[in-house]
Amino acid sequence: MLTPAQERLIEATAPVVAEHLDAITQCFYPLMFDRYPEVKPLFNQAHQASGGQPRALAGAVLAYVQLRRDPERVRETLATVVSKHVSLDIRPEQYPIVGECLMAAIGEVLGEAVTPEIADAWGALYEELAGLLIELEDHRYRDFEHRPGGWRGPREFRIAAMRQESAVIRSFVLMPADGGAVADFAPGQYIGVRLVIDGEPVYRHYSLSAAPNGESYRISVKREPEGTASRHLHDAMAVGDTLTLLPPAGDLTLVEGEEPLLLASGGVGQTPMLPMAQQALAQGRRVIYLHAALDAEHHAFAEEVARLEARHAGQLRVVTVHERGDGAEHIGRIDRDLLARYLPDGEPRCYFVGPQGFMTAINGALAELGIPDERRHYEHFGPSQPLDAA
Ligand SMILES: Cc1cc2nc3c(=O)[nH]c(=O)nc-3n(C[C@H](O)[C@H](O)[C@H](O)COP(=O)(O)OP(=O)(O)OC[C@H]3O[C@@H](n4cnc5c(N)ncnc54)[C@H](O)[C@@H]3O)c2cc1C
Ligand code: HEM
Repeated sequence: MLTPAQERLIEATAPVVAEHLDAITQCFYPLMFDRYPEVKPLFNQAHQASGGQPRALAGAVLAYVQLRRDPERVRETLATVVSKHVSLDIRPEQYPIVGECLMAAIGEVLGEAVTPEIADAWGALYEELAGLLIELEDHRYRDFEHRPGGWRGPREFRIAAMRQESAVIRSFVLMPADGGAVADFAPGQYIGVRLVIDGEPVYRHYSLSAAPNGESYRISVKREPEGTASRHLHDAMAVGDTLTLLPPAGDLTLVEGEEPLLLASGGVGQTPMLPMAQQALAQGRRVIYLHAALDAEHHAFAEEVARLEARHAGQLRVVTVHERGDGAEHIGRIDRDLLARYLPDGEPRCYFVGPQGFMTAINGALAELGIPDERRHYEHFGPSQPLDAA
């Protein structure tokens, strides 16, 4: 609990912290990885290199200064953080590590300006936020653990089947090595995957690409030419091999209602759309399924989606767009005119996932077509960032 004097100190010093956010961030991660090397594998080093993730943590602490008097908005804003943490099994005992290193980084960057009173005030603010995150995460862990087929912490899964879906995307069907059931997840959610590569743990997120079935999960992975985890999954793993899964999480899930849906995906961004489409169709909702791929060779799940369309004739309309070749209904890119042509009437909800440029274009075009912010839903396959970010 912050005292009124601490609140005043935080408000007075927040602009200085904001001004030095990049420097604090650049100091914080190397310092933490040096003092606590055991947490380093949790952080995707490609995200560290791109700078998106490093700014996020300190930025969230600063945003909390503005939001903390509005508990509802705080919870809403923290939902994506909680999901990322849950899918990586972040634990309460790791919070003091981040707190210590963040305070050390603030001290190192701002030097003597950080009096003991200022340090105490920021320490108390961090503890308040950490306490809230720990509580929200514990709630999610317990909820999932108590579902039939649920669990807490790491669980071993075996690769039961693999399928090449396109030139670069391969699906992996994963069944628990203990032979037990697997809990349902909300379509659209992703799972934390822990691999061991060259003796080192590597953590990544993958959207669950098939509807919940109680027995297995499916992930579908695009092979990145220089990617650590995706190349390992494609090149080194075979049916029968095991990997570790952490609980599913994620907030790109269908908002209940009867509105028709536009599900738009680019490339491997199609993965969360597959179970979402099935859920929506089972609920009797109308779905426009718009998928953009590079060409026919890179177009994954074409047959699976065509089968779904055949089963739900009149309810599901599939539209494909290829950047090149002649294997799709449209050749080129999804733009405002194309969206206008297929956007369902009647206040549709729009979900879209793909590369940053794809999502920026779709988001802008939908806004121009009058779809308000609260009916535009998207997710990054990397650190969350504003859609207009470079
Ligand atoms: C919510 C969510 C859902 C996701 N769902 C899916 C999904 O369904 N399917 C899917 O395929 N992916 C998905 N992803 C992405 C996935 O988690 C991985 O990021 C992706 O597989 C790449 O991981 P990698 O280890 O192969 O590549 P990484 O090793 O992480 O590298 C990624 C890229 O960064 C570059 N890079 C790596 N290190 C550096 C460095 N130090 N400096 C500069 N560049 C560097 C690499 O060359 C490569 O191009 C999802 C991500 C999130 C957050
Ligand atoms: C108050 C404390 C914390 C705050 C405010 C915070 C905030 C954040 C934010 C904003 C993100 C990015 C979410 C996104 O991309 O959508 C994130 C991701 C992450 N956090 Fe935290 N976090 C905190 C504590 C911790 C702790 C204690 C750990 C454990 C060591 C941790 C590990 C991670 C990891 C591993 C990621 C994903 C990194 C990646 O994508 O490479 N965080 N956190």
